[in-house]
Amino acid sequence: MNNREQWGSRTGFILAAAGSAVGLGNIWKFPYIAGENGGAAFLFIYLICIVAIGLPILNVEILLGRETQKNPVGAFKSIAGKSSIWKYAGALGVLASFTILSFYSVVGGWSLGYTVEAFKGTFSAFETLEISEKFFGESVSNVKWIIGYHTAFFLMVVGIILLGVKSGLEKASKFLMPTLLLILIILAAQGLMLDGANEGVSFLFNPDWSAVNGETFLKALGHAFFTLSLGMGAMMTYGSYLSNKDDIVNASYIIVFLDTFIAILAGVAIFTVVFSAGGEPAGGPGLIFNVLTTSLAKLPGAYFFGISFFVLLTIAAITSAISILEVSVAYLVDEFKYSRKKATLIMSILVYCAAIPCALSFNALEDVKLFVQDKGFTFFDVADFLASNLLLPLGGFFIAVFAGYVWGIDEVVKKLLKGDSQSVYFSNSILRSSSNKSIFGVLIKFLSPVLIILVLLYAISEGLKTDPPKEEMPVEQEVAPVEEVLDA
Ligand code: PHE
Repeated sequence: MNNREQWGSRTGFILAAAGSAVGLGNIWKFPYIAGENGGAAFLFIYLICIVAIGLPILNVEILLGRETQKNPVGAFKSIAGKSSIWKYAGALGVLASFTILSFYSVVGGWSLGYTVEAFKGTFSAFETLEISEKFFGESVSNVKWIIGYHTAFFLMVVGIILLGVKSGLEKASKFLMPTLLLILIILAAQGLMLDGANEGVSFLFNPDWSAVNGETFLKALGHAFFTLSLGMGAMMTYGSYLSNKDDIVNASYIIVFLDTFIAILAGVAIFTVVFSAGGEPAGGPGLIFNVLTTSLAKLPGAYFFGISFFVLLTIAAITSAISILEVSVAYLVDEFKYSRKKATLIMSILVYCAAIPCALSFNALEDVKLFVQDKGFTFFDVADFLASNLLLPLGGFFIAVFAGYVWGIDEVVKKLLKGDSQSVYFSNSILRSSSNKSIFGVLIKFLSPVLIILVLLYAISEGLKTDPPKEEMPVEQEVAPVEEVLDA
């Protein structure tokens, strides 16, 4: 038996994994893409992607971690052999962890900054969209503001990681996730009671099939990956702190359910407020940092709502960010035998430095454009594009191919059946039926790899169009590219 730290309880693991899944993607991005891409029609396609591709890959990722008790590089090495090229698939995950965190923590910093502003009552002065946009523009172009809050956010993440699996990751998630859920339920209920709330609800739930095309499907799949934290070994690393007695299939159902439920609740909380104040739904930072804050100013209980919302957003960002950093830390601990403290310090210094150009992309380095000088990408855009659109789907592709063809579906199912299962549905007993097992095989071996390749090709073709779709943005040029942060 090794002396690897383990989760203290089943619930601890589930909350930590759900904490990783529930992040800026759910609260910031999901409501917007659902609203703009056909409402319930998008939701329907997204749910198919989640169930048919996200859920099976989530099972495999957690299993790879549990079986090998290793970080992504070590996991592939221990199954495929030290000299096999599969270890590079794991290395891709470590690279993605590094890249995602470098822009994710910048947005986490904005969220923290807005929490402080909410406490100060700043939003009560946001009478028009112009005022809130100006405030946002000025805040992100202020080097001190952006670096200061980014640093504070980063220190919180590092502090939790330093405490370890049980006293850091697990304890934080056990406290933060129920808090998040409670705040969100109150906000959604409060939103539903506002005059005109119906309009917001129908924006999110009315199916508009005319808005659906091939691209909608690809967007839904891309987002399914990002929102479930798949493709970079975050779930693998969390799975590596599990023991054989846990039912991975059951845990995956719960994680997927919580992630989807929270995204929908966030949509309800945001759009009821925006519509009842007569605001226009918009995308990206425009939606929550500008439109929501302006709409709030017009409503009763605005002060309380504003604080709750940004605390919620910050919690969601923290519980995801810790899972991103943990991948790189586990890599150094397992592969180089570093202590957790040393590994955390090395990785956080590296990621912190990598994040600086991303933070400065909105001010000092605003004009430094990579690839194409006049229209190109800032550092922030590049980190976002590389990670969300290329590294995650590519990682997911390798995981599916590895499970389907190297490990083999029989072996995967045999191992998934190991944990204790309680019920027939929503537990691993579902895989005992041979027809369900074949469906699982088809999803992993054929459907997932083919669809992921399509998403990748789409992402690459989008990336080559150096002109990001800024027209949709209600905000200034310097903040527009952020709209794509979560456009996996
Ligand atoms: N799932 C997180 C979100 O929705 C982001 C994330 C991606 C976290 C990849 C970990 C790994 O915001």
